This record gives sequence, C-alpha cells and structure tokens, in this order.
Amino acid sequence: MSLQDNDSQTLSHDDDDVLTLREPDDWHVHLRDGPMLAFAADYTARQFARAIVMPNLVPPVTTVAAAEAYRTRILDALPENRRFTPLMTAYLTDEIDREEIAKGFRNGVFTACKLYPAGATTHSAAGVTSVRKIWPVLERLQTIGMPLLVHGEVVSPDIDIFDREAVFLEKVLTPVLAAFPGLKVVLEHITTEDSVGFVEAAGSNLAATITAHHLRVDRSAMFEGGLRPHAYCLPVAKRRRHKEALRKAATSGHPRFFLGTDSAPHQKHEKESACGCAGIFSAPTALESYAQTFAEEGALGRLEAFASEFGPRFYGLPLNKGTVTLRREPQDVPELMGDDNVHVVPFHASETLAWRFADRTDQTPDDDRLR
Ligand code: NCD
Ligand code: ZN
Repeated sequence: MSLQDNDSQTLSHDDDDVLTLREPDDWHVHLRDGPMLAFAADYTARQFARAIVMPNLVPPVTTVAAAEAYRTRILDALPENRRFTPLMTAYLTDEIDREEIAKGFRNGVFTACKLYPAGATTHSAAGVTSVRKIWPVLERLQTIGMPLLVHGEVVSPDIDIFDREAVFLEKVLTPVLAAFPGLKVVLEHITTEDSVGFVEAAGSNLAATITAHHLRVDRSAMFEGGLRPHAYCLPVAKRRRHKEALRKAATSGHPRFFLGTDSAPHQKHEKESACGCAGIFSAPTALESYAQTFAEEGALGRLEAFASEFGPRFYGLPLNKGTVTLRREPQDVPELMGDDNVHVVPFHASETLAWRFADRTDQTPDDDRLR
C-alpha cells in the first residue's frame, strides 16, 4: 500500500496488500429486532467492537428497562464468543421522562439520546414535534454530560427535501448550541457541505458521523437508468459537490468527523415498492467500503483515526485494544442476502470491492500509543 500521509496512524502495514487497524466502532447503526436482528446484527458485530444502536424500534426505546431488554436481545442474536458491546440510546419524545434518561446514563445503560424530528424518517412518528418541547431535557443532558445525537432534518411540507438538512442547521441546531454551549452533540449522517462547514466552525462539543454510502452515492445515483430504491436513504443523498465535501471531510484527519454507517436494513419488497422505505444496508462490507473511499482519496493512512480513534475520544470512551485486518483482494458482493425470513439487497450489491475483511484479534498491538 502506498501510504501518502506522513502522519500515518496505521498500526502496521507489513505489505502493500494488508491493512491492519485498531478495532473500529460504528457510531450509528440500526440493528432492528426480531428476524431482521437475527439476520443483521452479526454483520456489525464481526467488524466493530462497539456500536451506537439506534432506538427507532416500534415502539421506540424510551425507558431503561426497554433498553436493557433490547441489549439482551442483541447479545442473544450473536454467535457465542463474539466480542461486541452494543451502546444503547434513548429515543426522545415530547413527553420523555428526563429522570429516566439520567438514571439510564448513570447506570451505564444509555450512552446517548437520539433526537428524531417527528416524521423525519423511518419510525420517527413518536419523535419530537418541536425542539422547544424538550428544552428541559437538553438542559439535563448538558448538566450530566450525556451526548445528544441528532437526525438533522427539518420536516415541513414547504421545505424541499434536499434543503432539510441546511434548514435544520439554521433553525434548530444553531439555537440549541447557543442555549446549551456545554451540550455534546453529534450531527448524525451528514450529507451536505453546509454541515461540514458548520461542524468545522463549531466548538469542540459538536461532531458529525459520516456514512459509507454518502461518500459514494450522490442524488444522481438514485435515478441511474431508472428509479434505484436501494440508493435511497434519509437524509437523502445530495448533489455531487456535497459528496465531494464529505469525502474531503472524512479523509481530512479532522477529529470531529468519524465513522457511523447508518446501516439500516429493510426487506427487499419494502424498498422495491410504490412507497419504498429509506435505508441502506451497508454492514456486511462497511469497512471495505470506507477503505475503498479512503484509498481513492490517497488517505488510507487516515482511516484508522476516522474509524477507531475520533469517535471514542469524542464520547470520552477508551480506545479498543484489538485489531482488524483487511486484505486487498477482490470481493464480489452478493445481489441479495438473507435467510428464511428476510431478504435484503446490500449496499454495493453485485459490485466487486477491492478489499476484504480478513481477521480480527483481541490482542493489544505492540504499540506505544496503547500503553
Ligand atoms: C433509517 C431506518 O431505516 O431506520 N433510515 C435511513 O434512511 N437512514 C432511519 C434514519 O436513520 O434516518
Ligand atoms: Zn440512522
């Protein structure tokens, strides 16, 4: 591998075709429930040591008991001996009990709260109708140091869907950050150059996650030769120049941009429908997809920091101690995945990727930075 960066963070790069990274985390994923959980969860758990698990189940995860029960179902869905820590989140509603959230955070059950504007995306009907309604909750989060994760879109019939994120920055995020300057906020799955600039200009309490697919899909991809439901997610992919800004931000080494796949599996028939669901299932080849983008940008040496260091540092959690290895070896992605109960078209379906996830160890690399 030709590492062009002098500031390479890569733990070891014995030869050009092997990429070894500190174990990464996924800071935004949908693991679902029931048969979809049984099918999907291990794709995340095999590549990532920890993941921030989205709470948009039906009904949503709003109590400590619900989060604990969901965490147990996740762990039960994984093979024995899989080392994986689901980091649970609380779904904010207009009526959410802030004492319950604070209790869950104190007990180590909740890692963060998730703000879905009502109606913004899949299973967000119970979300917040106006951020003013949760002002006292935000105050409490700021006091206890609990991160607020936001789906950054304003939903209003008079706002064009491609403008929803930019309007959110102005109408919601700016007043929230002004009122709560100590609140830790993650702007999830950013899709615009506006958000990149906003995060860069903000203080150290604002970060953003970037998905694998928004680094590769722009809005034209949804209409390539016909309607492409498997390229549809929310926030919807934007113009090419926004994708380019995201690629630059992700590969820049800026510590407040980090990995969050937003892998969101849906049944094939629910996406290929007259009113298809939003969501892209990227978990099976998440690291390979990011590696491909970083390689194309000449920034493979910065992948480890993006995937394994900036997230935990922002959340105030320890870095993982094991490693994962990718090999530069062609990998054909299936056109369809699933089992008896679910059928899902994955991200990169029918494409050949340049990298392949090869190995994961729990061994501490012989590296000064880990001591
Ligand atoms: C997510 C889902 O399906 O739960 N869909 C998506 O397009 N990203 C919800 C979300 O994160 O917006
Ligand atoms: Zn999501």
